Amino acid sequence: MRIEDGRLIIDGHLCDELAKEFGTPLYVLSENRIRHNYRAFQEALARIYPNVLVCPAYKANWHLAVARIYQMEGAGAEVVSPAELKLALESEVEPEKIVYNGPLKKFEDLEFAISSSVGLINADSFSELKKMQEAARRVRKPCNTGIRVNLGMRAETHPHLATALREHKFGIWLGDAITAYTLAAKNPDLSVIGIHSHIGSNITQSQVFSEMSASMFRLVGQINDATGLKITKIDMGGGLGSSYQVESSAMTYEEYAAAILSQNMLTLRQLGEPTLVFEPGRAIVADAGILLTRVDVAKRQGDINWAIVDAGMNTFLRPALYQAKHHVVAANRASEPRTVSFNLGGPCCESGDVIAKGIISPMLKEGDLLAVLHVGAYGFSMASNYNGQPRPAVVLITGTKSELIRRRETYEEMIAGEMIPSHLSKQF
Ligand code: LLP
Repeated sequence: MRIEDGRLIIDGHLCDELAKEFGTPLYVLSENRIRHNYRAFQEALARIYPNVLVCPAYKANWHLAVARIYQMEGAGAEVVSPAELKLALESEVEPEKIVYNGPLKKFEDLEFAISSSVGLINADSFSELKKMQEAARRVRKPCNTGIRVNLGMRAETHPHLATALREHKFGIWLGDAITAYTLAAKNPDLSVIGIHSHIGSNITQSQVFSEMSASMFRLVGQINDATGLKITKIDMGGGLGSSYQVESSAMTYEEYAAAILSQNMLTLRQLGEPTLVFEPGRAIVADAGILLTRVDVAKRQGDINWAIVDAGMNTFLRPALYQAKHHVVAANRASEPRTVSFNLGGPCCESGDVIAKGIISPMLKEGDLLAVLHVGAYGFSMASNYNGQPRPAVVLITGTKSELIRRRETYEEMIAGEMIPSHLSKQF
């Protein structure tokens, strides 16, 4: 991104022209950035330990075009629903490279995943292990099984984004892991090959990743010894944070790779050089996306300046849900002195519908264009129709091209699933 004559430019495209052509609110994704990030992440790990499989988390960004970019880069996929699994398969991701996670998988979803030869299905509970076995028997194919272990580890992040303490719903508790593997090992329908942990999201300290990897590799040794199994896929989850604010810095990919790998090379050799699976979401796509939004109303309440913009919690939920702070740039006046404090409210009838509080900007006027940065992860994927708002359009920038990869929803699309029982239908 750069600024020329006060106008924000992303990958050579003027933001105000994109907004004019495609309307606002508008997500803009950079193909170049996604590819660059994916490669840099993969290479940072593979330079230290070659047997690495990167499976981007589709929940962060599940556009078909993005899934194709990942597939073309040779990535796997981390999916948590039958729809995400279909998306990966339709994008021609090799089934062997797909990891299926999540706290709830319905029986028919497991049948679908097993019959599609998904490379790793991570059980989240004892009862799911049993369901996996039954589904495998039903479809007459072994289930490539892993177990998500809750390691009991505190990750410094927003409380909603931590996942690996006893109070969290995820996985099988560390103290029960050997019992779970011993049970699973006895089952001929389960091909027990993996282990999984995901300690949380948006983590910016490396220490907890070092502790997590040491704990995982120790546990794999114990499992192999206690059960006679050979764990060949160790799935380290996602969680690497992003620098949402210019002043807050996340780890580099290299620091992350070193935290996970550098103390463990000998152990990995002793474990037979298993495949290490990584499930980055935010780390690959967050900084590949911006959200363009128009100031429709500028007003003052006492001494507070408000700009009401056309992107709200329905478009971008992170600020309302996690009090997330994203950098905002006045895209058409980016070189002007920033002298005034503004709150940016969205179109929804909720006081919490505030995209940013106290941003320092030029005096905003109706018609100004703003760019919210680092929204490529958990942006569109958490958008909703709340307050009858259509989900926004999404544009992909590829070199000199800018193409719609998702059109703005229409009223007809928004209500397509609605039905009126006959006793309520209109009388003609
Ligand atoms: N693997 C598993 C099993 C996960 O549950 C997640 C995210 C990931 C990988 C990817 O995590 P990442 O690398 O992006 O941290 N909506 C929230 C984030 C929720 C993350 C849920 N799980 C946000 O906007 O911050």
